[in-house]
Amino acid sequence: MCGITAYCGQNKALPFLMQGLSKLEYRGYDSAGVTTLEDHHLLTVKCKGRLTNLEEKLLSYKIEGTIGIGHTRWATHGIPSHLNSHPHNNKDETIALVHNGIIENYRELKEELLKEGYTFQSETDSEVVVQLLDHYYQGDLFKATLKVLQKIEGSYALCILSSLEPDKIIVAKKDSPLIIGKAQDAYVATSDIPALLEYTKDVYFLDDYEMAILQKDHIQFYTHEGVPIKKELTTIPYDLEAAKKDGYDTFMLKEIYEQPHVIQETMRGRINHDHISLDELKDIDFQQFHKVYFVACGTAYHASLCGAHVLEKLTRLPVISMVASEFRYNDPLIDENTLAIFVSQSGETADTLAALRLAKKYHATTIAIANVLGSTISRDADYVLYTCAGPEIAVASTKAYTTQLILLILLAYYIAQRLNKNVDLQLIHQLSHIPQYVEDILKDHTLFKEYAKLLENLHDAYFIGRGLDYASVLEGALKLKEISYVHADAYVAGELKHGPIALIENGSVVIAVALQPHIAAKTLSNIQETIARGAKVILLTTHNQEVKNIENTYYLPDIAPVLQSILVAIPLQLIAYYTACLKKCDVDKPRNLAKSVTVE
Ligand code: G6P
Repeated sequence: MCGITAYCGQNKALPFLMQGLSKLEYRGYDSAGVTTLEDHHLLTVKCKGRLTNLEEKLLSYKIEGTIGIGHTRWATHGIPSHLNSHPHNNKDETIALVHNGIIENYRELKEELLKEGYTFQSETDSEVVVQLLDHYYQGDLFKATLKVLQKIEGSYALCILSSLEPDKIIVAKKDSPLIIGKAQDAYVATSDIPALLEYTKDVYFLDDYEMAILQKDHIQFYTHEGVPIKKELTTIPYDLEAAKKDGYDTFMLKEIYEQPHVIQETMRGRINHDHISLDELKDIDFQQFHKVYFVACGTAYHASLCGAHVLEKLTRLPVISMVASEFRYNDPLIDENTLAIFVSQSGETADTLAALRLAKKYHATTIAIANVLGSTISRDADYVLYTCAGPEIAVASTKAYTTQLILLILLAYYIAQRLNKNVDLQLIHQLSHIPQYVEDILKDHTLFKEYAKLLENLHDAYFIGRGLDYASVLEGALKLKEISYVHADAYVAGELKHGPIALIENGSVVIAVALQPHIAAKTLSNIQETIARGAKVILLTTHNQEVKNIENTYYLPDIAPVLQSILVAIPLQLIAYYTACLKKCDVDKPRNLAKSVTVE
């Protein structure tokens, strides 16, 4: 995720660009930049780091231009650096652009351009777009943009500015947000509403495959084929504070609802028909490994449990999952034939980092799965794969978790393919439907709110599941206790009879997950044992299971069992969320917890 701003109007562009970027900093904050048109030439100022660094740098420039574009970056291709920062320019510095999204086919396009003699300054996918514009430009920026849009694949919100046609900004969108505002003195564009709300509440929502030409007192919309279209102006009813959360009551809810999109982004470019492609790992010889460790903390550990389960099933390699704070002190069996995978949203968790350093000391090959590009863990590991969840603000992890799951499943299938194991191609095909399934489950939110009412006045709740479902209930229980302070424990369903069942009494609530076909019937029997002792049960299962006398049953779509861990996360998150809301807890900032734990 990145944030972009554009201004084409009668006054100086810079104040709008910068205030917009500051509101968008939550979308990315590893570098920032602006380009304005100054006396017929483009002036680009950009730098690594937070927006304040850019603000300081701008003090030594006199910026008067009334047309400009800005960007705050959350890197996906190329480390945070001056050269990788946006805006990107062509060689003559006559065209500049900012991009949010991922250009999937940038490697092929870059190859073609290199053959044409183009040189590249950055490691980004975005620079390819500006070089392509240069390539196609023959006196008409709009026509050149249309040609480029036919060539690029992936997701993008683009704002393009040229000194050769100094009266306009061209914008285009597919799968990344872009909103256009009609302000008193200008037409403006931003990645989301808060960034323009101080200037106007009148906006056009650009849809996928649409583009627009912004001029200071005129706007025209087009399709990506260049056909003119009309768009309705909408007036935003809410204020700035509400808008930062995109109309949601909390960041956590906003992030829950972002999941279809960020799951899609995390898969983007990584599934190639029947193959998983993780180019970042192409140099690893997977035959050398005798065992694999997954190491992480908190939610990332629960995602690791799932990744470990899938990898072991597919490869039959011994796979061990460990909490980082245990791994680092438990003298783990590491040598040069060990693959060690470290999962961390922030990439800064102290225990995970120490565990990574230990694994490296004993010559393991290390892979980091991180969300924050350029974070310490991602830099220290031998190899890194990024989830594309964008910044997660709520302390309780939601979108980072589901994107970790998707990436770990991709990784397991990738390793299996590299080891020439037979893999279930149907599952690979089903992956592309996950965002839609998640979207559908989110539509059932009122049902999860009803389930939450069962938990509102309780001190304790019990979560049960078997196999992969056990990893899911561990995360479900963690979510509930983190944000609603209802004490929740997760048990392997088969262990109930060895102790926990002693706690079940009239009115206890048991949340059961039974999604793994080979053992779901067993979990269903365990549920009956709790009902016999007075428990109320919330069951998450599929229509393939024969469910008797369980009032609160939610049926998930019938897809590959491995993928259910992603889908079932959504009801579990929402049950925890609504319980916390009913109890009037501070959902985004639960007591005693920190988003990033950089101390031991
Ligand atoms: C903290 C957060 C959790 C997170 C854990 C690991 O405890 O509150 O939400 O899962 O750290 O963080 P990481 O950034 O390494 O994934």
